[in-house]
Amino acid sequence: MTKRDTRTLPKAELHVHAEGTLEPEMVFALAAKNGVALPYADIDDLRSRYSFSNLQEFLDLYYACTAVLVTRDDFRDLAAAYLERAAHDGVRHVELFFDPQAHTARGVAIDDVLDGLLDAFRQAEADHGITGGLILCVMRHLPADDAMATLESVAHRAGDLLAIGMDSSEVGFPAAPFGAVYARAQELGLHAVAHAGEEGDPSYVWSALDDLRVQRVDHGIRSLEDPALVERLVADGITLTVCPLSNVRLAVTPDLADHPLPRMLELGVLATVNSDDPAYFGGYIDDNFRAVRTSLGLDDAALASLARNSITGAFASADRKAELLAGVDAWLDAPQ
Ligand code: HPA
Ligand code: ZN
Repeated sequence: MTKRDTRTLPKAELHVHAEGTLEPEMVFALAAKNGVALPYADIDDLRSRYSFSNLQEFLDLYYACTAVLVTRDDFRDLAAAYLERAAHDGVRHVELFFDPQAHTARGVAIDDVLDGLLDAFRQAEADHGITGGLILCVMRHLPADDAMATLESVAHRAGDLLAIGMDSSEVGFPAAPFGAVYARAQELGLHAVAHAGEEGDPSYVWSALDDLRVQRVDHGIRSLEDPALVERLVADGITLTVCPLSNVRLAVTPDLADHPLPRMLELGVLATVNSDDPAYFGGYIDDNFRAVRTSLGLDDAALASLARNSITGAFASADRKAELLAGVDAWLDAPQ
């Protein structure tokens, strides 16, 4: 039986960092334009460093590269390039993370970050019918007061955001101190998500659920180590935004063939497939879909379930979800 084209499967991407879509070519072009000195000789030298043995090694490089992003147009061009690619991969709805503290700490105005990213979304909606929006991530290795100040600085623009998120180093940086930040975000009408259970054990996922009251967990793959947690995720209908190629590149899973994604689906966990930081981890969302098909033997019905989970877990209107879910059914029903 022939396999359906994963690129025509309608899907939502719920776990992708704007800064993680920064390709080496753009790093060097923006560095030259903005007069930013880079500690890398050239594109090949930079690319040769894309070999990580843990999350922190990756984050150090990732934050170093963000220094080239300076103007509103830089943020627009960054997101526009990603959204163009996403459209080509059948992504119909995108919820894009960004790390304001990585930019404001360098003197970039948060309005320029927001406006540039929103410019790109407006264009992608006009050009490709892509819907979605922005998730403001606070960095968990920085103090909660810093996160609160960042959130307050955009409180008057809460309508320009979909949700609050949390990323950066996980182990040793508990979520509980950020409870008040998440409560404030909720007061502002934002949805809530957080990275948890990527390198951290299941207690980090419990804390995201109980202390931050998140509606989705980003990564969350270590949840499977705790059957009571799996039960809670299933009972509460919590979506997990899983990033298979990222997990392999950051040595969270030794091998894609051992990835727990099929087990998650068997257990009834609402798992989705996403690219995380595609410029760094060897692939965009379609590369992830094709990799899990090949390495994990997922059939087209399983791939359709992953796409359905991404749509039902999105912060989109009921009408938009119904429209996209009908597209998934049509994909699966099409004669082969
Ligand atoms: N984990 C935590 N922080 C991040 C990641 C990740 O996978 N990618 C970008 N920031
Ligand atoms: Zn991530």
